[in-house]
Amino acid sequence: MEAALELAHVTKRFGTFTAVDDVSFRLERGGFLGLVGRNGAGKSTTLKLATALMVPTAGSLKVLGYDVQADALEVKRRIGAMPEDMALLEMLTGPQYLRFVGRMHGLEDQVIDARRDELFSLLELAPAPRALIADYSFGMKKKVALSAALLHGPQLVFLDEPFEGIDPVTRRVMKDLLLGLQKKGVTLVLTTHILEVVEALCPLIAIIDGGKLKGFGPLDELRKPGQGLEALFLELVGSTRAGELSWW
Ligand SMILES: Nc1ncnc2c1ncn2[C@@H]1O[C@H](COP(=O)(O)OP(=O)(O)OP(=O)(O)O)[C@@H](O)[C@H]1O
Ligand SMILES: [Mg+2]
Repeated sequence: MEAALELAHVTKRFGTFTAVDDVSFRLERGGFLGLVGRNGAGKSTTLKLATALMVPTAGSLKVLGYDVQADALEVKRRIGAMPEDMALLEMLTGPQYLRFVGRMHGLEDQVIDARRDELFSLLELAPAPRALIADYSFGMKKKVALSAALLHGPQLVFLDEPFEGIDPVTRRVMKDLLLGLQKKGVTLVLTTHILEVVEALCPLIAIIDGGKLKGFGPLDELRKPGQGLEALFLELVGSTRAGELSWW
């Protein structure tokens, strides 16, 4: 069977700057991959390439057997994606936005509304009925974006920093939700800076630094016995800089 996601020598340059540098890996269906790395490492760019939001400079990507460049629409139909900037239509209310997203996926309004109720209830998102997304709090916007990514029941889900700005209670619920999806065979890819989330959720990790893949595989194979993910992370991409300022 085709992999859920396959990158072959993927490079993305912005002018002379290389954001993603010859990255190759294969994620089987049903896998749960945590993409970690420092600010500016190339995580979001990698996800944008995989979700057909950006075109690679070189190399190729396949999602569920489809070439991401040649069959971008087929890919977009089959995946759920929460981009870094969430890409919401902020002049709509949350429910209006979900109607928009759901209809694009060909769902009936009744189905959209029932799923929205379930998602909002699970995530404890209760916006004022007429409030525009523009006036939602940051965490509320994240919840709308996550709801939009899951609405059509995709078999492959990409989430760029889904836990950032989310309160600890909802974070707990979201972890259970994502683990439950994986049990149902859904393939998940997420980025996060919260290493505890990766340790709790992701059997597979990819460590990216300066656009290069520094490690890929099961966490237990990458780390030494007894080594935590933080220690592994610091070993692979850490710096020895002291946290000091010259004028203080
Ligand atoms: N459209 C763009 N034009 C120019 N440079 C870009 C563009 N998008 C990303 N970059 C650069 O590519 C590098 C990787 O960015 P990316 O957003 O992938 O990092 P990241 O790993 O997601 O970081 P963070 O953890 O801060 O979200 C950065 O140096 C960024 O400035
Ligand atoms: Mg990012």
